[in-house]
Amino acid sequence: MIDTINVNYDTTIPNNVGLSEDRRILKALERWHPGYLDWWNDMGPEGFQESLVYLRTAVAVGPEGWAKFDYVRMPEYRWGILLAPAEEGRIVPFGEHFGEPAWQEVPGEYRAMLRRLLVIQGDTEPASVEQQRHLGKTAPSLYDMRNLFQVNVEEGRHLWAMVYLLQKYFGSDGREEANELLQRRSGDLDKPRMLGAFNEATPDWLSFFMFTFFTDRDGKLQLEALAQSGFDPLSRTCRFMLTEEAHHMFVGESGVGRTIQRTCEAMNEARVTDPGDIVTVRALGVIDLPTLQKKVNLHYTLSLDLFGSEISTNAANAFNAGLKGRFHETRIDDDHRLLDATYPVLKLVDGRPENVDEPALSALNMRLRDDYAVDASKGVVRWNKIIAKTGVDFQIKLPHPAFHRHIGEFAAAHATPDGEIIAEAAWNERRDEWLPSSEDADYIDSLMAPVTEPGQFAGWIAPPKTGIDNRPGDFEYVRIDD
Ligand SMILES: [Fe+2]
Ligand SMILES: [Fe+2]
Repeated sequence: MIDTINVNYDTTIPNNVGLSEDRRILKALERWHPGYLDWWNDMGPEGFQESLVYLRTAVAVGPEGWAKFDYVRMPEYRWGILLAPAEEGRIVPFGEHFGEPAWQEVPGEYRAMLRRLLVIQGDTEPASVEQQRHLGKTAPSLYDMRNLFQVNVEEGRHLWAMVYLLQKYFGSDGREEANELLQRRSGDLDKPRMLGAFNEATPDWLSFFMFTFFTDRDGKLQLEALAQSGFDPLSRTCRFMLTEEAHHMFVGESGVGRTIQRTCEAMNEARVTDPGDIVTVRALGVIDLPTLQKKVNLHYTLSLDLFGSEISTNAANAFNAGLKGRFHETRIDDDHRLLDATYPVLKLVDGRPENVDEPALSALNMRLRDDYAVDASKGVVRWNKIIAKTGVDFQIKLPHPAFHRHIGEFAAAHATPDGEIIAEAAWNERRDEWLPSSEDADYIDSLMAPVTEPGQFAGWIAPPKTGIDNRPGDFEYVRIDD
């Protein structure tokens, strides 16, 4: 019998899917593995492949004690195939097949659609590793460096997760897709990654924290929607990925939070009361709050674009097919088919953003994006509490969803962060008030000096409240010279 709770480490690929009895897939994955390692060595964290990093590795998928921490060289990390335990008697929870037993094999008619969903999700995983590969060299502490590498190896594992599904359920097509996932490159002109935000640069640590807060959160919402899938292996895969994703959210939220904390403390120490006095605040060697706001504006809107067009036939088809559901689908009290339901969609009406009721089935992207906005805004509330506690008079706000968009209803509009539509020329003139300018980027870049002494932190960021795995403050999370 396959032990689906504890992970089998006997095969080269740790797993809880019975790979040693599934020779065909084991072989396929073993053939894919060297190409993956080549990719990791070329495109993974630059300069630290030989260092020992204090990383968690999944050893079980049950709710308690699923991870163990130890020093590992990243190329030797045990990337495994881990699915959350099967739920007895699970049904297809939405769509045309609502109530039928969940599928253990791919329904023939939905093969192409499902493959597409897996490839799009899979493509984001290595992309972020590529985007973040230079950051180790400017880490503000060993603690942060370790968190970066943890996120990176887990994104690598998420790629394995999608590749397993492709190889197991899609035969030679799946193998081809698995190989192509190693060919595309973030930001490459000829072979870019599939989605916009994953081709942007992540040049500095504030960008990294914003990315893990905003863009990984898009990942979280997409995984939540796929975790509802009637295709049970996908559901179980995504459910386990979400446990790892929670740490990525933590890295982003706490990273931005610690940056805010340090800025406010430095302002108080120097008796600077005006957060808008950027020159004075920057002279303290910290990131001023208006610049933080601009970074929020940028990363939030790039991430909103990842949800696609507000009105989408693809999303409707994937829902009808039972492949991709809504956030917390099973907790929603309705028919789970959306036959007559409507949903308010933000549209450009007579030159102004306005909610218009649309068939709920076509509006699923909009709905998931709304769920995302609610989730993200909770983190912003917590950031504002940090500011309020220090007595500094400033509030971070999420910009209006019409602002700075490249996909959907507002792609062609020019809106202010408050959602007022203005002329293109006026918008261009004010752009640098709302989005990071090249000067802002240069200033942030000037702060990115590495700190590699255990327990020490760069001057622009506060230390964390507690260590990883309850380690003390001066713990050597990365042994750079070993
Ligand atoms: Fe991921
Ligand atoms: Fe992630």
